[in-house]
Amino acid sequence: MISERGIIGLKDLDRGDIERIVDTAFSLRQTSLKGGKATPSLMGQTVVNLFFEASTRTKTSFEIAAKRLSANVVNFSYGSSSIAKGETTIDTARNIESMKPALFVIRHASSGVMELLSKHLHTPIISAGDGTNEHPTQGLLDIMTIMDEKKRIDGLKVVIAGDIYHSRVARSDIYGMGKLGAKVSFFSPPTLITDDFASLGATVTYDAQEAFTDADVIIMLRIQLERQKTGLFPSTREYARIFGLNEQKLGLARPDVIVMHPGPINRGLELSSCIADSAAHSRIMRQVENGVSVRMSAIYHTIGGGHGPIDH
Ligand code: CP
Repeated sequence: MISERGIIGLKDLDRGDIERIVDTAFSLRQTSLKGGKATPSLMGQTVVNLFFEASTRTKTSFEIAAKRLSANVVNFSYGSSSIAKGETTIDTARNIESMKPALFVIRHASSGVMELLSKHLHTPIISAGDGTNEHPTQGLLDIMTIMDEKKRIDGLKVVIAGDIYHSRVARSDIYGMGKLGAKVSFFSPPTLITDDFASLGATVTYDAQEAFTDADVIIMLRIQLERQKTGLFPSTREYARIFGLNEQKLGLARPDVIVMHPGPINRGLELSSCIADSAAHSRIMRQVENGVSVRMSAIYHTIGGGHGPIDH
């Protein structure tokens, strides 16, 4: 259930919640694409984007989504905040809570910080990603993008490839897509995955042929060099050759395979530019487009009282 504390991760949502958020996102998309306001239901409410870590897509997308629901948006900038003077994350959030926002959208580099903050705050939170734990709205927009193209999730072979170990997207995807019946498999070097991913209901393979053969959906993940303290693969050149997606590996998949990536892309490392920009297969920009509708829906279902598609 979407609880009063908000959306912390897809681990906590059931299949019905996920379908409800995605269904509403589809119903909001036409209005969103025209740039218009979908509903005045959040008029006068304030959404605070509390980003303690860098973001291009998620922060912009949440801001646009909240404004299209007629909410006011405040963007907290950690670089110019009193964090620089030593104020803690909890104190920062509690002080801003005293200004009575309706919702926090929070990104933080520490895994589990949403759980911690939700114990100290009364205001609902939507996670915009915490460390290597979860990125629930990315998982939801990935589901929407697959539904958009394939009209179903159940039974599809979804390959998630790359730096699984550091990826909050991989976790949210397996929680969400697993609940909707996808056959998820992870492909990465052994140093970039841990045993617990297999226990989440996915197959783990280190073999490209096994991974990509007959894939319906390929989700390539960014190598997160900023989260790696030691070299987890010999060289970027070798990584690109063995684990990156190129035309030859793509040829193993189904002819109508779609390729996704949460961004930002390391072009030529995990994904060739040719595939990233391929009109036939790449749905990377569609993911970003769907992200606004998904976030409108997530906000609406968290603080807009939504229990079904918005009646336009
Ligand atoms: N996909 C994603 O989370 O991108 P940003 O880090 O730019 O928000």
